[in-house]
Amino acid sequence: MLSGKRILLIVSGGIAAYKVLDLIRRLRERGAAVTPVMTRAAAEFVTPLSLSALAGEKVFRDLFDLTDEAEMGHIQLSRSADLVVVAPATADLMARMAGGHADDLASTLLLATDTPVLVAPAMNVRMWQHPATRRNLATLRGDGVRVVGPNEGDMACGEFGPGRMAEVPEILAAIEAALADGPLKGRRIVVTSGPTHEPIDPVRYIANRSSGAQGTAIARALAGLGAEVVFVTGPATVAPPAGVQVVRVETAREMLEAVQAALPAEAAVFAAAVADWRVANAAGQKMKKDGSGRAPALEFAENPDILATVAGLSKGRPRLVVGFAAETHDVEAHARAKRGRKGCDWIVANDVSPATGIMGGAENEVTLITAEGAETWPRLTKHEVAQRLAQRIAEALA
Ligand code: CTP
Repeated sequence: MLSGKRILLIVSGGIAAYKVLDLIRRLRERGAAVTPVMTRAAAEFVTPLSLSALAGEKVFRDLFDLTDEAEMGHIQLSRSADLVVVAPATADLMARMAGGHADDLASTLLLATDTPVLVAPAMNVRMWQHPATRRNLATLRGDGVRVVGPNEGDMACGEFGPGRMAEVPEILAAIEAALADGPLKGRRIVVTSGPTHEPIDPVRYIANRSSGAQGTAIARALAGLGAEVVFVTGPATVAPPAGVQVVRVETAREMLEAVQAALPAEAAVFAAAVADWRVANAAGQKMKKDGSGRAPALEFAENPDILATVAGLSKGRPRLVVGFAAETHDVEAHARAKRGRKGCDWIVANDVSPATGIMGGAENEVTLITAEGAETWPRLTKHEVAQRLAQRIAEALA
């Protein structure tokens, strides 16, 4: 799939830079040509020689290197690629990208390019969570920049949390997705999936039986048509698909926040089985039996409705908002009412009565409700439902 593709790989200065050595090898194994560019700080982490040896190409480092300008001007350099990949992307380089700076070769190439850009952020947890970085990320997304990672884990700086650069196979999948030709190429779509977990105390929670299978299949199908998918998932039992940006959350409120952070998008598909209620009096410490034989009373509070919130946005509403309706009786009537109540464009309705075996199963039987009416699809695998739905979304956005 990457055969004959040209990747301009911009390496900025972070400890994760060592991973790009492997990334270059894997890209070349797949037939891609890699032109490395490094920032001044990157050279503190990997040597120009290792990059050029693995890439089999000259490393570009300096904007004012006249030989480089004679060989290939920076405009040409930035546009000769099929994809620009920034890995690792430091907080500083992302800030300069968002601000439109052009004060070194890397930022100048990024400003001058008209090819798609994929960034793999890597930074300290606090830096990743800082409002300035959140703003820059939102700006970059709005500019059409694709993002892979970061992952959560132990960091070189000794802290734990999100900020670790995505692993090489994840970056490769994101590169393949970015270069995939399909009707949804360049379209950003948010997909929610899986159950949510609502804590009762630090060790107990309320959950539901959603496996995340249908949402995962939809995200995979959309990515297969070339979409840039942000996959916001609760604690699902099936693994997330490759080639999408995965955002892991636990609670409904976290899911809403993650969806809002993922906007703007052209379409949003809400396949998650979000808990309608959370425990309002969740305990900060493990609840203990008090010996009286009386059980504690749980109080519930209604969770925000993520679908209705996004469907009701007056500014920045995705062009196509797709909800699901899990019903156990009068499926079509309830789903039609739900479409009106939630303000979404389409509802994918299904019967989740235990007898149907749909929840947690491999198959699904859905009715698609749009402004035009209702269509009932035959019983299909969740994979097939996802393919059909992705195709319909592609047609609607075309
Ligand atoms: N949904 C959501 N946020 C919530 C609840 C539901 O985004 N807090 C979304 C689901 O992802 C799904 C749709 O709303 O796309 C419908 O979910 P469903 O559980 O069928 O509907 P409810 O809102 O629970 O309505 P009801 O109680 O009438 O079944």
